[in-house]
Amino acid sequence: MKAGDIDTLCVQLGDRSYDIVIGAGLIESAASKIAPVLARPRCIIITDENVAPHYLAPLKASLEGAGIKVETITLPAGEQTKSFAQFQKLCETILEMRIERSTTLIALGGGVIGDLVGYTAASILRGIPFIQVPTTLLSQVDSSVGGKTGINTKHGKNLVGAFYQPKLVLADTQTLNTLDRRQLLAGYAEVVKYGLIDSPDFFEWLEVNAQALIDGDMDKRRHAVLTSCAAKARVVAEDERESGKRALLNLGHTFGHALEAETGYGGTLLHGEAVSIGTAMAFDLSRRLELCSGQDSARTAAHFDAIGLASDFKALNTDGWTTDKLMDHMSRDKKVEDGKLTFILARGIGQAYVTRDIDTADVRALLNDWLKNSS
Ligand code: GLY
Repeated sequence: MKAGDIDTLCVQLGDRSYDIVIGAGLIESAASKIAPVLARPRCIIITDENVAPHYLAPLKASLEGAGIKVETITLPAGEQTKSFAQFQKLCETILEMRIERSTTLIALGGGVIGDLVGYTAASILRGIPFIQVPTTLLSQVDSSVGGKTGINTKHGKNLVGAFYQPKLVLADTQTLNTLDRRQLLAGYAEVVKYGLIDSPDFFEWLEVNAQALIDGDMDKRRHAVLTSCAAKARVVAEDERESGKRALLNLGHTFGHALEAETGYGGTLLHGEAVSIGTAMAFDLSRRLELCSGQDSARTAAHFDAIGLASDFKALNTDGWTTDKLMDHMSRDKKVEDGKLTFILARGIGQAYVTRDIDTADVRALLNDWLKNSS
């Protein structure tokens, strides 16, 4: 459905189906979309210190203007917030507010806030409703859609969590204007992913339009967010709990998670930055195994390079990195089964597939070469 500059699409999950609404300026008029999905006119908005100064007041004003009771909680910004400690604190703060099962949590922020608030909503009183208002490109095209929620542990990222779907996702593309370029580019890596998985036409469109959308073209941004969400909604509707096809959405993530673990999650490498390198590695492995052409692998890397995302290790400080260490990080992946790693490889651009039949020796050879060429 399309009305003016707002697009609405539905994640089809039976009685847990919900809309994703995409457009510029949605936060200011949020009540018109949020009020109809509330069981009771009471919400708690949870956001972080970076997002609050920009978007908390207009969201609150819109909801209060519609007669909705609103309380707010502002958390520290950054990956550290997705911790057991913050989860506990958030649960206690919410319980002190004497909520009922009909109280709705609203996650206003990027992936950290969305994942933490979603998991809190799944847990508190054994489940209360929540709404995602994602304010970064990464959260608008990926983490706010599909119901993966969770927190990090010392053993790795997102290892404690739940599949728990929101009641609504409101992606205000205007929020991308206050996002710094590095975050925007990192989120863009997840946009490219959808083209590479099964939409060669979208990848081609990105090759032509990526620079404009990164530079601020609002129509192109909306098109990219819409196409990405539509792709994700299709996959989630088919395989909500990742027993098959949903694993495709992890293209670039098996390698990417190892790079994030090795760099220590401290901001050296953002998730999307790790995904762009990891995707280039997945295509290089596909080329080495003669699954895809050298041309498609080079074209993928060239696109990342053209828009300023890395497609190799050159900008990283890889001192002390070893193939063994990277293999060890990969072995902690959630998708390991019977000790076998899951890889998303490709037979070409737009032809990704999931496999567990990859010889460890081939992965080690790739890592050896990438590390050798890193300086
Ligand atoms: N980000 C991958 C997924 O939601 O399945």
